[in-house]
Parts: sequence; C-alpha cells; structure tokens
Amino acid sequence: MSIPIIVGNWKMHKTIAEAVAFVKALEQRLIPEDRACLAVPFTALRACATHALRSRIGAQNMSDAAQGPFTGEISAPMLLEAGAQFVLLGHSERRHLFAEDEGLIRRKLERAIHQGIQPILCVGELLEQRRAGQTEAVVVRQLESALGELTDPGSLMIAYEPVWAIGTGETASCAQAVEMHQLIRRYLSRWNRPVPILYGGSVRPDNAAALLNESEVNGLLVGGASLELDSFLSIVEQGRRG
Ligand code: 13P
Repeated sequence: MSIPIIVGNWKMHKTIAEAVAFVKALEQRLIPEDRACLAVPFTALRACATHALRSRIGAQNMSDAAQGPFTGEISAPMLLEAGAQFVLLGHSERRHLFAEDEGLIRRKLERAIHQGIQPILCVGELLEQRRAGQTEAVVVRQLESALGELTDPGSLMIAYEPVWAIGTGETASCAQAVEMHQLIRRYLSRWNRPVPILYGGSVRPDNAAALLNESEVNGLLVGGASLELDSFLSIVEQGRRG
C-alpha cells in the first residue's frame, strides 16, 4: 500500500517564527518515505518553504484572477514565487464563512491548474444536508460544478470533509468515509487517472490509524491536530505502517 498523504491545515494559526520552529523540528523527524504537507498562512509561506526539505508547503486559498485591482487577494504566481506547491480550494470555511460560491471555486480551480499549482479541492455536506438524505447529491454537485468541464485533472487531489466533522470532535465513521470516498472515486473515474482522495474532519492521533487502514482513504487533511508537532507527527507516523 502506498504511503498516505498527510496534509496539515493550520488555518489562521502561527506567526512566521512559530511556523519556522515547527517546520524545522518536523524535518528532523521525517523519513524520506513520508508524504507530509502543511497548508500554512500566506505570511509564513516563504519562510516555511525555505526550511522544508521532505515536507511540502502550500497555501489555504487563492484568487481566481492572475492579477488586478483585488485588494487583499493573493494570486497563484505570488504563491508559487513564495514557495507554495499546492493550494486548498473550496474549504468549507471559505464556502460558508466567506460565501465562496461554486462558480468562484470552479474559476479558482481552473486558475490553479492553468498556473501549475496543485489544487486540493475540498467538498463536504452540512449536518442538515446529511440528515435530509442529501449528502451524495450535495457532494456530486460540488464535484460537478468545480470539475465538470475539466479535461485533464493534472495533479488534482480531493479532500472529503463533512462540515459537521470539522472542529467538532465528531469524526465520520470509517464506513461513512469509505462510502463517500467510493462515490467520489466513481465520479473521478471519468479521467482514468488516479486522483488521491483525503479525509478531513476531527482527525486526531487516536482515530487516524482506523481511517488510514481503509484502502479508500489515500490520506488525511488535519486541522487542529496539526498545530502541535507531536500530534501531527503521530498521524504521519501512523501512515508509515501501511
Ligand atoms: P479539524 O481537524 O480541526 O476538524 O479541521 C479539519 C479541517 O478543516 C481541515 O481542513
């Protein structure tokens, strides 16, 4: 089984100094096979990328435009220049707290592919949508609106993050995660190219192994538990056992 991809999403945490201290310490404990990635705040990108040898550094968001009068936005070329290798797109916090709609997420995805930065497209349903039996329809709609016209997925990755599991301590069961990963994989089969699918939502050292044990789960997207070196490393190390 291939080594899973473990992506930490720091969200709006860590100053440059804190971020660099983390990356330096992390690097000392990674082995060449590890596939550890960190989505860091924009301000820490350059410094983290400078210290990252085995880990990969990326961003948490990106503008759909290459440049222009868009105060406060960051473009793909700026991210690439700062050392980002990947970018999270359509994270539920962007969708729900910052009102990013499906058209905008599609344009961001197209921009990322065009500019050569690896996109990690995040999809997932709200609790009320799951309760209403709409989970599959919601996720397929998110996939279709973002990817429907894409002819080549390039280095695309997908993260399935049920919104009700993000930051709540409530993880999807392995069966729930597998069911959704299978659905997503069926959608992605149109390209006949492997697209890794990560699970995210309250992943912690004590539930990572069970999720990673599922062959449908190609990796994890970790929020809170990626902020402490020991808990992030523990999850990375559990991936080695595959
Ligand atoms: P938590 O791991 O804190 O639930 O966050 C998940 C997430 O949003 C990762 O992108």
